[in-house]
Amino acid sequence: MNAQLSPALSNDELDAFWMPFTANRQFKAKPRLLARAQGMHYWTDDGREVLDGVAGLWCVNAGHARREITEAVTKQLGTMEFAPTFQMGHPIAFELANRLTQIAPPGMDRVFFTNSGSESVDTALKIAIAYHRARGAGQRTRLIGREKGYHGVGFGGMSVGGMVNNRKTFGASMLPGVDHLQHTLDIEHNAFTRGLPQWGAHLANELERLIALHDASTIAAVIVEPISGSAGVILPPAGYLKRLREICDRHEILLIFDEVITGFGRVGKAFASQAFDVTPDLMTTAKGLTNGSIPMGAVFAQRKIYDAFMQGPENSIELFHGYTYSAHPVACAAALATLDIYAKEGLLTRAAALAGEWEAAVHSLRGLPHVIDVRNYGLIGAVELEPRAGKPGARAFDVFLKCFERGVMVRQTGDVIAMSPPLIIEPKQIARIVETLGSVIRDTA
Ligand SMILES: Cc1ncc(COP(=O)(O)O)c(C=O)c1O
Repeated sequence: MNAQLSPALSNDELDAFWMPFTANRQFKAKPRLLARAQGMHYWTDDGREVLDGVAGLWCVNAGHARREITEAVTKQLGTMEFAPTFQMGHPIAFELANRLTQIAPPGMDRVFFTNSGSESVDTALKIAIAYHRARGAGQRTRLIGREKGYHGVGFGGMSVGGMVNNRKTFGASMLPGVDHLQHTLDIEHNAFTRGLPQWGAHLANELERLIALHDASTIAAVIVEPISGSAGVILPPAGYLKRLREICDRHEILLIFDEVITGFGRVGKAFASQAFDVTPDLMTTAKGLTNGSIPMGAVFAQRKIYDAFMQGPENSIELFHGYTYSAHPVACAAALATLDIYAKEGLLTRAAALAGEWEAAVHSLRGLPHVIDVRNYGLIGAVELEPRAGKPGARAFDVFLKCFERGVMVRQTGDVIAMSPPLIIEPKQIARIVETLGSVIRDTA
């Protein structure tokens, strides 16, 4: 018998919380409540152990309930729970920015703090536009995103994003002057590729077409996820990101990598840009920055971008942008403790060591009923299922539910099951995730 970990909620008590990205009525009819977490596991409110195959939501890279983070947060709350960073400062904000530059891609040694991935994206887009203005190219305001991209839910991120359900309701309210590259998912050419697909680098050439259409002089930045997560784990074809970089350079367009999920060790290096050897001008992060413990995001900028703003009278504010909680002291403490754990336990590179085993495990699902693709990189995996006729997403949702019932948490997006376990995962837990998923797929019509 499992012990009840928290009092069961009545139906009425479930009403008030309007849940994000959730089918509220369906959920509230049969809730899935998590009450405790430790290491690789969650426990449900009724005391069932669940192996975490998704690091919460791609954020708990060092595993759950890390004592070092709890202690750092507790200490900071007792020392100074809040301090503003508008025309004031506090030491650990500077300490954190310096620490982050030590693991950042080359030259990215300026850091702007936010509270989430969405805020990081909107911040980066604003910095890109303001950068061009600061260097006398104020007509460069156009932003280029990509189909199936996910860049959070702010108006900026939504506009450059390319997930139809997130956009369609808000059509007329999108940012003007945004265009999109074609996405790089091509099951026909690349199904069951291990690691990066070899086909598709030429898809980056579409940027040339958009430049010819709009003229480079109107374009501020291109933003892409090095690996798209939310649309179902879409990998960049080998050479694709390098080609985007070359085209941007040729036309003085900034390249922004949204590393909200790929950052902090997920792909075997601190950041995907290092794994793929392509350095952007701006990089957005969040999630793993604090191991998911306290909301925080960070935008990394190349020095040249920051320097472009540092002109005019010294008493003038260079960028009219920021959040009350930018570099919140408690979040800074959580992030510093997180970085310590990553360094001490070698977690920023652990995914590289486990990648072979992970790849073999997830690709063992090939050949199961309805499996039409398997994709992987670092400690990211995805299994794409054939949709049920007329019911997109329904089969994968059933698989997600059954996995949860059998004690493994995976993530469903459309007809894709995505996995991104904490980077502390052990081989036997990899096996458990994949065996459970496999048995559920076999049992799901
Ligand atoms: C690539 C990417 N960008 C931005 C975001 C938005 O982050 P948040 O939900 O913290 O606003 C996400 C969230 O999953 C993401 O995957």
